[in-house]
Amino acid sequence: MGTIISGGTVVTAGDVGLADVLLEGEVVSALAKDIPRAGHELVNAKGCLVMPGGIDPHTHLDMPFGGTITADDFKTGTTAAAIGGTTTIIDFALHQKDKSLREALDTWHKKARGKAVIDYAFHVSVADGRDEIIAEIPQIIETEGVSSFKVFMAYKNVLQVDDQTMFKVLKACARHGGLVQVHAENGDVIDVLVNEARAAGRKEPKHHALTRPPQAEAEATWRAIRLAEMAQAPLYVVHVTCAMAADAVSEARKWGLPVYGETCEQYLVCDSSDYERPGFEGANYVMSPPLRGKADQSALLCKLKNMDLHTVASDHCSFNHAKQKELGRDDFSKIPNGAPTIEDRMAILFHYGVNAGVIGLSSFVALTSTNAAKLFGLYPRKGTIAVGSDADILIWDPGAARTICAADHHMNVDNNIFEGMQVTGKPRSVFLRGSKIVENGRFTGSAGSGVFQKSAKFFPIQL
Ligand code: URP
Ligand code: ZN
Ligand code: ZN
Repeated sequence: MGTIISGGTVVTAGDVGLADVLLEGEVVSALAKDIPRAGHELVNAKGCLVMPGGIDPHTHLDMPFGGTITADDFKTGTTAAAIGGTTTIIDFALHQKDKSLREALDTWHKKARGKAVIDYAFHVSVADGRDEIIAEIPQIIETEGVSSFKVFMAYKNVLQVDDQTMFKVLKACARHGGLVQVHAENGDVIDVLVNEARAAGRKEPKHHALTRPPQAEAEATWRAIRLAEMAQAPLYVVHVTCAMAADAVSEARKWGLPVYGETCEQYLVCDSSDYERPGFEGANYVMSPPLRGKADQSALLCKLKNMDLHTVASDHCSFNHAKQKELGRDDFSKIPNGAPTIEDRMAILFHYGVNAGVIGLSSFVALTSTNAAKLFGLYPRKGTIAVGSDADILIWDPGAARTICAADHHMNVDNNIFEGMQVTGKPRSVFLRGSKIVENGRFTGSAGSGVFQKSAKFFPIQL
């Protein structure tokens, strides 16, 4: 016996229409008008949108960073993600300089296995360009089911790589079917600006943003694009925050280069004035790249509307205010970078994108699910509702309103950067491979039900 989700408006990246969806076993087995009941369980989705479960392609769970470790692990982070409508995350396995990429992946498998409540895949970061590290790339793509590799152009002396390393990674990926992701900020320039600010006694959180100007992001974005062009490699720019950098992505695409851009919901609704919040509250908003101005928010929304940016990820990297963000009370450069955003990603984009009349329903699905599946080798198993696809289904009530609040969110952290925002639209039910895991804001699944998903090689599919 299966489950029929009936009477809802089915939304995919390509279409919107009234239809029933039949889930049998772990997959969608029919999508049609008035599927015969035939003893199947019936879920009434009248008045709701029926969409593919969200795919969040940028999360950091259980990650050591900034002298501490993120507050959410794979259990709490994926539970919060599920409640927000996400059924798959792609987390970053962080490579350490003296170790192998394989070791990074082994470590991340151990962190996720038995804890994740939704499905997960991995990207692997590359911290150095030793020959044996570059030589691992084809092997990881072929045998490990990981096809995306991240390089950081910032975080000097920690994660930052030089252009030579980046170029080698790009060439290896171009040759073997990998997709390079880049954190694009000029880390050397930022290092100078941060040291100057500290020497001048500037301590407050707002100096985090002032020492990481949009030009540093735009310069690195352009450089990454040109390096990728020379290596004949596809490129995915993570967390694009400003018009200058987003323009670089769209310009490169105009020349026909396979360059893709991601932004995050926080860059659409929070801005640099949040760093001026009273007390030390501005620290909660410290992330890299930093929040920008209102004009950049509008530019990013416009880029999403025109599909000049392709995904909205959370870049979830949660730290408690107490004892973690407080590490930088006397020095902004010691505030751990990142914010808790995994739970509210879809609601924020729905409210400020769809309800605001900027983004259509199919674009919402493309940006929160389908495009990530296509770029990271999970499509069409994930990211759509089609016969044979995994039955990862989100029943979304577009009229349900709520106020975002750290006191009742499900992330394991004492702050929420969207605190007090009133949003309309939230999940009524969430299904993971045919099993209901969320009902009316409550997690009903079981621990460890998430399964590692192998990513296929990068292949340019129309977004
Ligand atoms: O501030 C951020 N974004 N923290 C997570 C690490 C990264 O740069 O993505
Ligand atoms: Zn980053
Ligand atoms: Zn990140």
